[in-house]
Amino acid sequence: MTITTKRLSLQTMSTEIVVSGIRSTGHLHLGNYFGAIQNYLKMQDTYNCYFFVADYHALTTHPDPKLLRENVFRVLAENIASGLDPEKVALYAQSDVPEIPELYLMLNMLAYKGELEKVPTFKDKVRQQPENVNAGLLTYPVLMAADILIHKGAKVPVGKDQEQHLEMARNFAARFNKRYGEDFFPEPQVFRFSQDAMKIMSLDGNGKMSKSENVNATIYLSDSDDVIRKKIMKAKTDGGPTEPNSEMPDYISNLFVLLNAMSATETSQSYRDAFNNCNIRYGDMKKQLAEDMVAFVSPIREKAFELQQDHDMLRKILKAGAEKARASASETIEGARKLIGINYY
Ligand code: TRP
Repeated sequence: MTITTKRLSLQTMSTEIVVSGIRSTGHLHLGNYFGAIQNYLKMQDTYNCYFFVADYHALTTHPDPKLLRENVFRVLAENIASGLDPEKVALYAQSDVPEIPELYLMLNMLAYKGELEKVPTFKDKVRQQPENVNAGLLTYPVLMAADILIHKGAKVPVGKDQEQHLEMARNFAARFNKRYGEDFFPEPQVFRFSQDAMKIMSLDGNGKMSKSENVNATIYLSDSDDVIRKKIMKAKTDGGPTEPNSEMPDYISNLFVLLNAMSATETSQSYRDAFNNCNIRYGDMKKQLAEDMVAFVSPIREKAFELQQDHDMLRKILKAGAEKARASASETIEGARKLIGINYY
C-alpha cells in the first residue's frame, strides 16, 4: 500500500523547483489569498517548493525589532492556517539560511549601480523614504535573485510588480554563467499556476484590494465576524440596473466575483439572474455574501490565532524548513565557490 502511494506521488510530483518569498509586512487579506496563497496551495502538491518569509528584505525599511518578529510569526501562522503545508514545502525564514547572504555577496559583484538605480521599485522607495536610501534598498533585486538562485529555482510565482526583479535575476544568472563558464544557474521564469487567478477589487470600487489603502474596503484574514459583516454591508452598490441584461459596473461584478468564490453555485446564479431581470436586492445579496464570507474566513482566522499562541510549534516548523532549505542551499554555494575559485580545502 505504501509503495503504491509512493510511486503515485513520484509520478505526479514534478522535480521543477518553485521559489517564492512572502513579505512579512502587512496583514494578509482576501486579495493575497486569491492572488498568491491559492496558487501556492496548488503548487505544493505538484512541485518542489521553497517558500520563505523575506525578513532580510524587510530590514530595508528599518522596522522595530519587536514588530518585525511578531510580523514574521503572524504571516507564517496565516499562511499555514490558509493551507500551506510545512510537510509538503520547505517553509522557512530567509535569515535562517546564511547561504542566501553569501550568494547575495557574490551576485553583488555582477550587479551594476546604474542598472540598480533604474529599477522602478527603487525609485518609488527613494520618493517614499528620501531620508533612508540605503544600499540594501538599492540591492533589493540582488538579494531577491539570491533567494531564487540559491535553490536553482526555475519557476517563481510573483505578481506584476515583481516582474522586473525577476528579469534582473535572469540577467544575474546569465552573467554568472557567462563569467564562470557553465550552465550553473537556470534563468527563473514568472509562473502562474492557472491563468484565471482571481482579481479581487477593493470594496469601495477603487482598484485592487492589494493596493487599497482603505482598511474598510479590505477584508483581512484576521477580521472578526462582525467586522467582516460591516465591511461587506458597506461595500459600494447603486440603485440597481434599469434595463435587462445591463453591463455590470466594476464594483458590482467584484461582489459577484466574491460570491462565486464563497457561495454555492445556485446562490450566485440566482443573484445573477436577479441582476439580469432588474429585480436584484443588493442588501440581500450582501447579507448572503457576508455570511458565506464569515464561514470562509473564520476557520482561517481561528487557526492562525491558535498557531500564533504556539510559538514552540512555529519555531519547530521554521527549524525543519531551514534544514530542508539549507540542504539545497549549501550544495549550490559549494558549486558556486568552486566555479569562482574560492574553495581552498
Ligand atoms: N520582493 C517580493 C515582494 O515584495 C518578495 C520576495 C523576496 C520574493 N524574495 C523573493 C518573491 C524571491 C519571489 C522570489 O513580493
